[in-house]
Amino acid sequence: MNKINRKILITGGAGFIGSHVVRRLLTSYSNYHIFNLDALTYAGNLENLKDIETLANYTFIKGDITDEAFISSIFKTYNFDGVIHLAAESHVDRSITDPLAFVKTNVIGTMNLLNAAKEVWNENFNNKRFYHVSTDEVYGSLGETGLFTEDTSYDPNSPYSASKASSDHFVRSYGETYGLPYVITNCSNNYGPNHFPEKLIPLFINNIINKQSLPVYGDGNYTRDWLFVEDHAVAIDLVFHKGKNQETYNIGGFNEWKNIDLVKLLCKLMDQKLNRKQGESEQLITYVKDRPGHDLRYAIDANKINKELGWKPSVNFEEGLDKTIDWFLENQKWLDNVTSGEYKEYYSKMYK
Ligand code: NAD
Ligand code: TYD
Repeated sequence: MNKINRKILITGGAGFIGSHVVRRLLTSYSNYHIFNLDALTYAGNLENLKDIETLANYTFIKGDITDEAFISSIFKTYNFDGVIHLAAESHVDRSITDPLAFVKTNVIGTMNLLNAAKEVWNENFNNKRFYHVSTDEVYGSLGETGLFTEDTSYDPNSPYSASKASSDHFVRSYGETYGLPYVITNCSNNYGPNHFPEKLIPLFINNIINKQSLPVYGDGNYTRDWLFVEDHAVAIDLVFHKGKNQETYNIGGFNEWKNIDLVKLLCKLMDQKLNRKQGESEQLITYVKDRPGHDLRYAIDANKINKELGWKPSVNFEEGLDKTIDWFLENQKWLDNVTSGEYKEYYSKMYK
């Protein structure tokens, strides 16, 4: 094994996207020691990392980014060379019922990391980098046309997107004010293995398996731009290593789907996989009360990252959905574990 010469902190590495980023960096850079800091909230799951948890250059740290003293102490202990910050409350619907939890983790938690990095790096920023992983939702909602570029004004509509927008602003301000070297990426909706089944695609896969109704909000004519999670992890790797300091990059799938069309495609693919009659799962579609403040459309212009760093999505949507469905069908135990207990309460409150 190569000598370890860089210590990288990844926050939120037990979550959906974070676990793919941890795996990618661990398996690509044997000279890195990866520290995964995660509070293991309902969305964090060490099962996501079973295959890599015994590697010598990996350390899991259970901890909460809202705990200022704890965050300061781990930076002093390890003196990380870089931070890739993904830990967050990430679900819009939960932000509508408990907005303060989003301010605590997404804003205060990010502040604690920024302060600890600033303190321990002490203006010696050579080869240091703070990478903040954000969302396209900070830009608000598009009409029927247009795309979000890096110059689109922030216009968040949900407590989730407002908290992410706020954290983005703080990261940028630490760059301007203290010279902290940062990069920010704003990515569109991800899907893939390990996705927690409160978000549209994994929730509907789980409900189709169990022949439960598929709650489509409003008229289903809302549009999202979907990206396979491993393509996001590749983009994060690239931006972390080759992106320019004090820059923002948009990441997207060039892959817009109206919710209702996506749900119908999912039903069709699942009927094939489960040897059900074509059309059977579509019968489960139920139109329910709309989400308040529901953004009509998100779509990313990912030309900057394409031109500057050569990144583009590699997995097309049918192939990605196919892989995702197979993963959930092969990992029924994972699904059963995360849908027991607290999940049942959440589900019955949310969809009563
Ligand atoms: P997730 O909810 O699956 O995972 C979040 C992880 O953060 C979990 O492991 C959780 O335990 C951990 N966490 C939460 N609060 C914490 C705290 N206070 N201290 C330490 N750890 C804590 O989220 P995800 O979908 O993997 O998203 C990861 C990041 O990517 C988030 O910052 C999100 O805003 C951003 N993002 C997500 C998407 C998407 O489609 N899921 C798209 C663009 C950007
Ligand atoms: P979601 O996966 O929560 O991601 P986001 O809100 O961050 O885009 O939702 C994706 C789309 O699916 C969004 O338009 C809301 C819609 N949706 C439903 O129609 N029903 C559901 O049960 C869920 C969870 C989402």
